Amino acid sequence: MPQRPAVPSQTTDLPIAAISEGQRMVFATPEDLDRAWQLGIFYLRVPASLDLECARAFGRELIVSDSPYRQTPQYGELEGFIALENNQQTKLALCRHHWDRHYPDTIAGFGRQLDAIGIAIMAEVLRQSGIPETLWGRASGGYSEGGGTAFLNFVHYDTRTPDWGLRPHTDYGFVTILDASAPGLQIEVEGEFHDVPVLPGHLVINFGEALHFITAYSQRSVGAMVHRVVSQKAEDPVRHGIVYFANPDLDGMLWQFDAAGQIRGSSSVADLFALLEKNLTEYA
Ligand SMILES: [Fe+2]
Repeated sequence: MPQRPAVPSQTTDLPIAAISEGQRMVFATPEDLDRAWQLGIFYLRVPASLDLECARAFGRELIVSDSPYRQTPQYGELEGFIALENNQQTKLALCRHHWDRHYPDTIAGFGRQLDAIGIAIMAEVLRQSGIPETLWGRASGGYSEGGGTAFLNFVHYDTRTPDWGLRPHTDYGFVTILDASAPGLQIEVEGEFHDVPVLPGHLVINFGEALHFITAYSQRSVGAMVHRVVSQKAEDPVRHGIVYFANPDLDGMLWQFDAAGQIRGSSSVADLFALLEKNLTEYA
């Protein structure tokens, strides 16, 4: 039998997954999946059907200060055209039920293509967790059945401030899908930050806190990893990001099932996110 390639020793040699014709997320070897689950981050080959160039072009339009999309109304603290405090990150953020109202049709359609990718990733995490398939919908706050919620955000960085691009944090939701046009993302592994290079033709996928919560008592839990974006300078290539967050409904519940299908714990999404916010404030 031919020998399998060794597990990469470099932290940033992230494993690579792809979406199969059957809409399953697959890795070349079981060791690649192990490493992806251990790190909480990996690359995903861009599916041929994904209209990424169109979405990138839309994101670039938002840099212009008189872009009409900068007038998108704000909904609460999370949606609208937002400049984060103490970070360079500036973004147009909208959750799924506002896409059709405020994004062009092509971009709302692009969001739904990312929904399908997010569902395929969630299905693989839940399959690996051993949680019975009949419970996947409930375990994921509806997300794996096309419900839950999702954000589709277009990000860039205001280089007029010397701040972090984005301060160290973990993502709160299930899965984050990222397309970035330039370097800057770093992940923390064993107390040190390592670059995550842009790999042409690939998205970056990472796991979030809600995914850790729902798999905590399963046969294979996954963790959320700490990451940040380094300060962007005016002379750097402009860093655009397209960021999709697969989330539970923000007013719903999360259940912690074990592989026998028994409930071992629960939390409202609001309580879990409030706890994370408190920890983040203490960390920062
Ligand atoms: Fe993040």
